[in-house]
Parts: sequence; C-alpha cells; structure tokens
Amino acid sequence: MRSAPKPKKSATHVTDQTITSVSRESRVFRPSAEFQRQANLGSLAAYKKLYAESVNSPEKFWKRQAEEQLVWRKPFKTVMKGAMPDTKWFVGGKLNVAENCIDRHLGTARENKAAIIFEGEPGDVRTMTYKQLHLHVCRLAHVFENMGLVAGDRVAIYLPMVPEAMITMLACARIGAIHTVVFGGFSPEALKDRINDCKAKLVVTADGGWRRGKIIELKPNVDKALEGTPSVQTVLVLKRTANPINMKEGRDVWWHDAWEGAPNQHKAKAFDSENPLFILYTSGSTGKPKGVLHTSAGYLLGAKLSSHYVFDLKETDRYFCSADIGWITGHSYVVYGLLSNGATVFIYEGAPNQPEPDRFWRMIDRHSLTILYTAPTAIRAFMRWGDNYVLRHRLDSLRLLGSVGEPINPEAWMWYHTMIGKKRCPIVDTWWQTETGAITITPLPGATPLKPGSATLPFFGIAAKIVDDKGKEAPRNSGGKLVITKPWPSMLRTLWGDDARFKQAYFSEFPGTYFTGDGARQDKDGYFWIVGRIDDVLNVSGHRIGTAEIESALVSHPSVAEAAAVGKPDDLKGQALVVFVTLKSGHEASEALKESLRAHVGKEIGSLAKPDQVRFAASLPKTRSGKIMRRILKDIAAGTQVKGDTSTLEDFSVVASLQQEE
Ligand code: PRX
Repeated sequence: MRSAPKPKKSATHVTDQTITSVSRESRVFRPSAEFQRQANLGSLAAYKKLYAESVNSPEKFWKRQAEEQLVWRKPFKTVMKGAMPDTKWFVGGKLNVAENCIDRHLGTARENKAAIIFEGEPGDVRTMTYKQLHLHVCRLAHVFENMGLVAGDRVAIYLPMVPEAMITMLACARIGAIHTVVFGGFSPEALKDRINDCKAKLVVTADGGWRRGKIIELKPNVDKALEGTPSVQTVLVLKRTANPINMKEGRDVWWHDAWEGAPNQHKAKAFDSENPLFILYTSGSTGKPKGVLHTSAGYLLGAKLSSHYVFDLKETDRYFCSADIGWITGHSYVVYGLLSNGATVFIYEGAPNQPEPDRFWRMIDRHSLTILYTAPTAIRAFMRWGDNYVLRHRLDSLRLLGSVGEPINPEAWMWYHTMIGKKRCPIVDTWWQTETGAITITPLPGATPLKPGSATLPFFGIAAKIVDDKGKEAPRNSGGKLVITKPWPSMLRTLWGDDARFKQAYFSEFPGTYFTGDGARQDKDGYFWIVGRIDDVLNVSGHRIGTAEIESALVSHPSVAEAAAVGKPDDLKGQALVVFVTLKSGHEASEALKESLRAHVGKEIGSLAKPDQVRFAASLPKTRSGKIMRRILKDIAAGTQVKGDTSTLEDFSVVASLQQEE
C-alpha cells in the first residue's frame, strides 16, 4: 500500500518527500500491437503531433474539433475570446446539448441501439434505445415547460442512479434549465444549502433508491430540506421503490402523473455556446462548497472528445462507469461524453457487494461489458474481498479499464491489471477535477506506454506544468504544484454567484494560470505523478471533503469549542478523516460523545463525511497568531514523529499531551 505522506513544510516539500515512495516504480506497460491496430489513436507519435498542434495552435485545433464533433444550429464566429480566466469559447455559435446527445443519432444506424442499460440493485434490468431515450426526454421537457420552467431556471436533482436521473439532466439541457445534481448520500442540510445557493425552483427526487438491500429515504430528506428553501415551487417525485412517502398537496407531483399525456416530440431551442449547462457543488479549502459552473459547447466538446480518445470508443462497446451522477464523473462520463458519442452506457443502482462482493464481475459477464471505469478505493476494496469473487467469472468481454478520483497505488494498479484485465486490457489512469470538466491528464490506450501509478501525459489542449512556490517551472523529478497555463474549452467558467471567489480560489496564487490544488512531479519522460491535494481538501474514498466544512459542522455541536480536521493515510480509503476537538467547559469527553459528534457531522453534511476517528484534546497546536497547525495534527493522526519546523508553535506541551492521548 502507499506509504505515509511525510510532513508538510511547504507544498513543494511534501511533494518531494512522497515522491520517493513512488519513484521506485519503474515498470512500463506498452500497448499491445493488437490493441494499437484497432485504436482510435494508435501511436505515441500521433498523440505527440496532435498534442503539439492543440497547445501551439489552439484556435486551429479547437475550430476543427468543434466543427467535427458537435452539431451546430448556428456556426460560431470566434473560437476563443479573452484571456484566462474569462475566456469565452465558440462565440456566436448556437446549439442544443440534449440534441447533441440524442437527436443527432436518430435516423442513423444508432437509432435502435441501446443508449442505456440499467441494472437495479434487486436485479431488475431495463434497456432504453436512443429512440426511446428521445421520447422520454421530450416528454419530460414538456412537463418542465408546463410547470413554467424557462431557460436559466435552476433544477435540483436528488435521485438514485436510475435512467430517469440521466433523462432529467437531458430534459434540463433541452430547455436550457441549469441542473444541479446533489448526490443522494448528502444530508437534508447539505441539500438545503445547495438549493438555497442557486435558488432552485424545482426539485426532482424519488420515493427511494436501493442500496445494500435497504431503501435510501430520499423523499423524507427532501421534505426536511424544503422546510428552509423558499425558492422551490414544485417537487417531482419518481416512483422507484413503492416506499410509502408523504406527498405535499400543491407542491409535490408524481412523475408518472405529470408524464401522462405529455407529447413525446419536443422542438428544442438552440442556445448560445456559453449558455450555462449545470452547477455542481464541490468542496474547497475554505467555507461552504463551491458551485462550479459549466457552460454548453466547450464543456460538451471536452467531454465528447476525451470519451472518444481515452475510452477508445467503438460502436460495439458496452461501457460501465461506476460513478454516481452526483459527481462530475457521472456528468461527463456517464451522460454527456458518452451519449454524444452514441455509446451504450451501462449503469448500476446499488452497492458493489450486494448481494455478494462479486456484483460488478457478475454484471460484466451478464451484460458483456467491454469497458470499466471505477475508482482506486473500489479497487482496493475488491482486493480486500479476495480473488475468489473475481475468479468465479470470465470477464472476457472487457477490453479497457479506467481509474479516477485519487492516485492509484502501484499494488492496486497491478491487481486491476492482472486480476480484472487479465493482462490484456490497458488501464487509463485519468487525472481531472470537477473544475476541469473533462479528463485532463491521461494515457491514450493505444498510444501511451503505461507506468503503474502515473496519470502519464496531458490530454489535447492541456498546458499542464509543475511549478515551484514562485511559479517557476520545476525541474524534472522534483515535486511542485500542478498548474494549467492556458485556457481549455471545458474549464469551469465561474463559481455560481461568487466570481470573486472563483478568481481567488484558482487564479490568485499564480495570476493568469489555473492552480489545481494538487501536488505532483513530472519524471524524465514528462509523465505526471499526482501526489494529491496540497490545500485543506481531503480525498476520502475518492470524495472531496473540505476540512473547513467538517470543522464548521463540528463547532455547531453544543459540546464543541474548537475543531480541526485532518487526513490520515488509509489502505482502503486513501485518506481517513480524523478530527481533533476541544470541548466547552462543563462537557465531558466520552465514547457516547464521540458517536454523537460523528452522527452530527453525518446530519450536517452526509454520512460520507463522518469522521473515522474523533480525538478529544485539551487544546490544539497553534501558531502565536492563533492559526491551527494542521501539519502537526496530521503527523499526530498518522502516529508518526512530529517533524518540520515547530518554532512557530505557541506552546509545545500541547503536542506532547496530544501524542499521549489515544
Ligand atoms: O486530487 C485530485 C484527485 O481528485 C481531485 C478532484 O476531485 P473531484 O473534483 O471530486 O473530481 C474527481 C473526479 C474527476 C483532484 O484534485 N484526483 C482525481 N483523479 C485523480 C486524482 N488524483 C490522482 N490521480 C487521479 N487519476
């Protein structure tokens, strides 16, 4: 397993240290001649040539791609306008994103091809062709219009992983409404904050979804959230589980009732290239989650082009991405990138170990799936569950594997390669972010020699660099900060309602350059090795969690005076969440209080943010100016010696007493 990150003196320092552990990795896996022969891009030389054009002549490159890949109602006049971060793309052009994902395939051989294959956790299967998907989206677009929704209105989506989740996103896109998908694991409180931040008019939810044999109570969560959301006028409720729920008169409408009689053809309007498509909330290093805004043409082009090359999509593929649509991976690589390419997308509602830990392998054989895109945390769980669950199945339909969300440790990479890919399938380790919209650093499977643990080389149009704290390019093999120096079409446009925070968060450290928040290094071949976040954002099981959100949830508990959240290396989750809390006078530390604090964070944010460990402290280590020294707490949480400069500590005895506790 990955060795523990060493102490953080400065961002660059931590990167240097961690690199030693992965720099022993020297294996190289070249694409097989057989894979190369059939690949959409079959040589490293071809990648290098196209990449050079994409960064040296971006206008020429993106003009050609936008014309070839997208269906325009009105051609654009200008490819890109303005400097980063305010670059506008494909100015003057008009298109409809839903039309680009569905209507373009009608009247072609794809019309009766499966767009979606769905398997519910109880084992129910539904297949929907492109033609059927079109009818569903058209009907829902009418339902939305009948409710009075117009272009620019916000719609919150809080649904299980069922085809209707995709249909809802596409119906929003069709009428120009902006969707914000909230992962079903978020609490009513988190849902309320997101609805209020973007002032959603409509919430689309379900009477539940299946997970580990139980029903996730989505509707009661919506009811609770809506006690404090004045903007919401209507709740559209899908029947999935037949779980009894309350329907509020005048506000709540059943999907199947609204649907009744809605026409199944809908004339889609064309929207400007820069028309907002969706808002997706993600954690930052300070404050509440940020509403990342993506717009239409540039985002769609990034998602479509990367899907084509990174997943080497072919007409016959049956592609499975295990991400929920509540995350950016579900947006770009379940919905927009795949459907715009006319692919068959397989989606699964439930848990990977329900009823047994071989559920994924069973489904791959059952549906002859050819591509699997999942997260290292899942791969490590599969490893732990044991090879026997895998060996029961053939897995011979698979031809390509993908990884996303966090660094994949070489041991997990090798297991994925051998046990799942049978040494036959290339692995694309794709680095990207909610903000980048599309895959940003990645191998192309027919072109790029793979090194386990490296996301390899930048995708087309991505000017990625490693810089030191002053913004100077770092020499090869020394760590630094990962930045992108030129604009790219699928980049975020702003943070919803807070453009100043957008500029501050991403463009203030190195003006004119996008700072990713990640530490990384580039090896002698120019390969990128991502170390992880170097800001106060944690990556727990591939989910981004801001320490500030956890801390503010904790201090809202009546017993807590102060709190600090840090990550601790974890074999399964990548990082586990450890919180240090000091109590208000008169409150006693106890096991029961630890449980109550965990439950409180679960209630405030969602169970994905529940701390793995709660540690009580008499006081927290601070600088003389009163700032909590998190790097010291990180060492304490990891059980390693406190290293680095401690001269700014106000009181060293605090550290000694923290080490004694637990
Ligand atoms: O730290 C990087 C990590 O996930 C962060 C982005 O999180 P989010 O916006 O939730 O998007 C996740 C899915 C795209 C990054 O800043 N990350 C993502 N992919 C990788 C990764 N770290 C290493 N290797 C990856 N392949």
